Amino acid sequence: MDWAAILVLSISCFTANSVSLSHIDDSGEKKLHYLVEPPVYAEVSAPRGGNVTLPCVMHTKPPHYRIKWVKLEPHHQGVENIVLITNGHALKHYGALGPRASLRDAHPLDASLRISNLELGDGGEYRCELINGIEDEKVEITLSIDGIVFPYGRHGRYKMNFAQAKAACAEQDAIMATYKQLFKAWTDGLDWCNAGWLNDGTVHYPILHPRAACGGDLLPGIRSYGPRHRIKDHFDTFCFTSATSGTVFYLGGSFNFAEAEQACRVDGGGELARVGQLYAAWRYQDLDQCNGGWLQDGSVRFPIVTPRKHCGGLPEAGVRSLGFPKKTHRLYGAYCYR
Ligand SMILES: *[C@@H]1O[C@H](CO)[C@@H](O)[C@H](O)[C@H]1NC(C)=O
Repeated sequence: MDWAAILVLSISCFTANSVSLSHIDDSGEKKLHYLVEPPVYAEVSAPRGGNVTLPCVMHTKPPHYRIKWVKLEPHHQGVENIVLITNGHALKHYGALGPRASLRDAHPLDASLRISNLELGDGGEYRCELINGIEDEKVEITLSIDGIVFPYGRHGRYKMNFAQAKAACAEQDAIMATYKQLFKAWTDGLDWCNAGWLNDGTVHYPILHPRAACGGDLLPGIRSYGPRHRIKDHFDTFCFTSATSGTVFYLGGSFNFAEAEQACRVDGGGELARVGQLYAAWRYQDLDQCNGGWLQDGSVRFPIVTPRKHCGGLPEAGVRSLGFPKKTHRLYGAYCYR
């Protein structure tokens, strides 16, 4: 080992230490008295449709107190996104999450939040606040929805401003991905050379195998175009989806687009699948099919779990796209959702 390497090693050890120390110091909080400190980076995760408990437990109960659960993301300037408030007797729900939120109440010191039937947008930071008029305390927990990020473009490259990209993800049974979700997808193997909107209005693309056509030979990583003009600038987008309650199935045949729609309705009692549903079926139902099929947006794709030579040729598992063929072409089957 040379000195430079040793130096780097010791600097990174030092940095790691100072980060974890400052995490405690910088918070500026007094030592918690009532609430139990969660483990650092407390994170709870479940797929869409699942139930979760975000833990918040008291050591001891002050004589008078309120517990307030707040969702910290997305940020609304100046407006707290309250989920529920309880004073130990009465409980009040707020906002869109309210009806699916409850206190677990597993024992007298339990202030843990339960959220049922999780939705894609429920992910983010949550805060449990104890308010007793003397020394308020709070703990923060991250809820992460298990799911999958996929790149999405309309006919041709870079056709969507921010609002159009947001709508496009919604049409594909998904929401716009966050930077964190894109980052996790990159660590899981996502390499994509077209830049796409994220839900904070920034534009990025994830590269694992640097190449000249994709930003040159910079190190692998998430390439950033930074925040872009939400109305004037046009890009693709990254969407995020998760498990579905229904299933996707393939109908073989040589359909044009209209015939494929009809086949799903008549033969399957369903409708043409959305792109997010096909990704979810690939990830959660191991759907593996070596035939291109129409989807609801007019694209033709097929999902491969076990890569093989004659199925698109790529060495990685994934959902392959054949683009947006002419809707009158009678060449493909249909992916239906029911
Ligand atoms: C979630 O909780 C509800 C009751 O609140 C229950 O009906 C449902 O089966 C639960 N779902 C899962 C996936 O455990």
